[in-house]
Amino acid sequence: MPYYRVVGEIPRKRHVQFRRPDGGLYAEELMGEEGFSSDSSLLYHRHLPTAIVKAEAVTQPAGARLEPNLPLSPRHFRTQELAGAGDLVTGRILLAGNGDVRLSYATTDQPSELYRNSMGDECVYVQRGRVRFESTYGAIDAREGDYVVVPTGTIHRWVPDGQVNVLAIEAAGHIRPPRRYLSQYGQFLEHAPYCERDLRAPAEPLLAEGEEVPVLVRTRGGLTRLFYRNHPFDVVGWDGCLYPYAFNIEDFEPVVKKTHAPPPVHQTFEGPGFVVCSFCPRPLDFHPESVPIPYNHHNVDSDEFMFYVGGDYSARRGSGIDVGSVSLHPAGFTHGPQPGAVEAVIDAVSRGVTTTSEMAVMVDTFRPLDLGPGALACEDTDYAWTWAR
Ligand SMILES: [Fe+2]
Repeated sequence: MPYYRVVGEIPRKRHVQFRRPDGGLYAEELMGEEGFSSDSSLLYHRHLPTAIVKAEAVTQPAGARLEPNLPLSPRHFRTQELAGAGDLVTGRILLAGNGDVRLSYATTDQPSELYRNSMGDECVYVQRGRVRFESTYGAIDAREGDYVVVPTGTIHRWVPDGQVNVLAIEAAGHIRPPRRYLSQYGQFLEHAPYCERDLRAPAEPLLAEGEEVPVLVRTRGGLTRLFYRNHPFDVVGWDGCLYPYAFNIEDFEPVVKKTHAPPPVHQTFEGPGFVVCSFCPRPLDFHPESVPIPYNHHNVDSDEFMFYVGGDYSARRGSGIDVGSVSLHPAGFTHGPQPGAVEAVIDAVSRGVTTTSEMAVMVDTFRPLDLGPGALACEDTDYAWTWAR
């Protein structure tokens, strides 16, 4: 996280005695990245964060297997057709993934149990609905269009307010704002398409009581359920630069060029082996002879996973792509606008259209994406041939 934050009660100096009203000591815990050499926070617990009383193996849910994208094809998945099951953790339906990132879809109205992903950060994009994110750091009320970034190891749960649909991006490392948006000390620079004011983090402690409280823990080895002697939501205060936060796609400030700008202008986050981009409503390119949709392109080092979340994506009109669709355009294949789309947008501009309403979340990976059972269950198998019709 790029900037320092303090919530609740903390002692004046770090690593000094900090006492509860009954005279006992609060238990200090450091959550830190990269072996004490990167961002961290200090959390002050009412109880020992180390006190577990039981550990249970948990069977890995079926449907977590990936298959290579063979024969190599551009793909179209209709997430609208996927039925919900479980909650926002156990109900994730794997769409695609590789050793760096797993991309899943979930739809549910059920609260999750407490969960800790020890393999990497998560970025959960709320496509539709409202959901309260609760954690040891406090709560965030998330809504449609929010990216909720959850640091590795954060104990949390998701409590939907009615039906909610999300895309879960699970990294095998840390998800951060792009380095080029930040000063050498981590402040967002003026050219960045968002800044600190756009990030919503917990504002107050979240305290809960309980004994022998189960927490589902995900590790590289599989799933375990650890039972904590006391409820993990017992943090009276914390400070530091590592914490969960939400960023809403509506707060992304698109960069517009005279002629067509490539996807890096839409970049929102970076993770090891992938980037996340936000395509938002914006003015169209304004050169008098511009072609204001993408040119045919082959980004030879990337697979491109595009989740269409709103508006009208004119470059794809006629392909069957709709809100809720995911397209996967893999390396090894050149993709571009649908036939006739260039002529159609030039005609629209000539009739006075000056904006695009498209809204999409894109994950570009630098290693090939394999296909999950969720993708194969909702695939539009004619998509690959739509450019040749
Ligand atoms: Fe593309």
